[in-house]
Amino acid sequence: MHPAYRRRPREASPATDAQKRVPTRKILPMSRHVGTLIFIIGLIGLLPAGCNMRSKARFKPYEPSAFFENNQLARPLEPNTVALGQTRVSEYFTTGRIDGEPAEAFPAPVTRAVLERGQERYNIYCAPCHGLTGYGDGMIVQRGFMQPPSYHTERLRNAPPGYFVDVITNGFGQMYSYADRVSPDDRWAITAYIRALQRSQNAALADVPPEQRPALEEVER
Ligand code: HEC
Repeated sequence: MHPAYRRRPREASPATDAQKRVPTRKILPMSRHVGTLIFIIGLIGLLPAGCNMRSKARFKPYEPSAFFENNQLARPLEPNTVALGQTRVSEYFTTGRIDGEPAEAFPAPVTRAVLERGQERYNIYCAPCHGLTGYGDGMIVQRGFMQPPSYHTERLRNAPPGYFVDVITNGFGQMYSYADRVSPDDRWAITAYIRALQRSQNAALADVPPEQRPALEEVER
């Protein structure tokens, strides 16, 4: 083979290491500058977004606010506000009061369907505090909330139905209003069910129709 074509053995050149090191030292600081530059360009790009109306200060619902006198951000409803679909039929139907006095009668017949609806709503909205049977021993009370009075007292047994509708609508003392969660129909349905609860804890044999009394007496024996 002609010597020109012969593979020359690779010589380990002493320059190799130095060559490797020199560029390394030079490129690193350079690339750092490039990174900083890109970062700054990016920041400049973000600036207009920062001044955008999309990112204005905002408040969360029910956040406190020093701006209003009562320190609550959420504003109370204006008097006589009517939400869409919540027609205010009458003062009596909506609040349970006639000329400021609690109404003595239900606005519509109390049927089994009304009682069942009332029971379902009562168990959801009232039982957590008033207890399933109305003695004021609900779970929230057992966990420290103020104990409501029992429904099985002379005073509340004699309270007219409109009184209960009024308490649901406007709240009472420590109990807040349920007007935004319980519709007027349901306020009367719940009241009817509370009446049933009161009867369930305070019934006499005379309340049972005579033809059914023998069945009860048999149970007693
Ligand atoms: C978070 C607990 C809680 C819930 C839920 C609740 N109440 Fe009350 N309720 C109370 C407390 C506490 C009182 C007593 C308030 C006071 O005397 O300051 C009370 C009082 C009452 C009274 C008695 C008023 C009186 O003259 O003594 C009635 C009636 C009443 N609630 C009905 C209801 C009905 C109906 C519901 C369901 C729609 C309901 N409550 C839901 C806590 C609650």
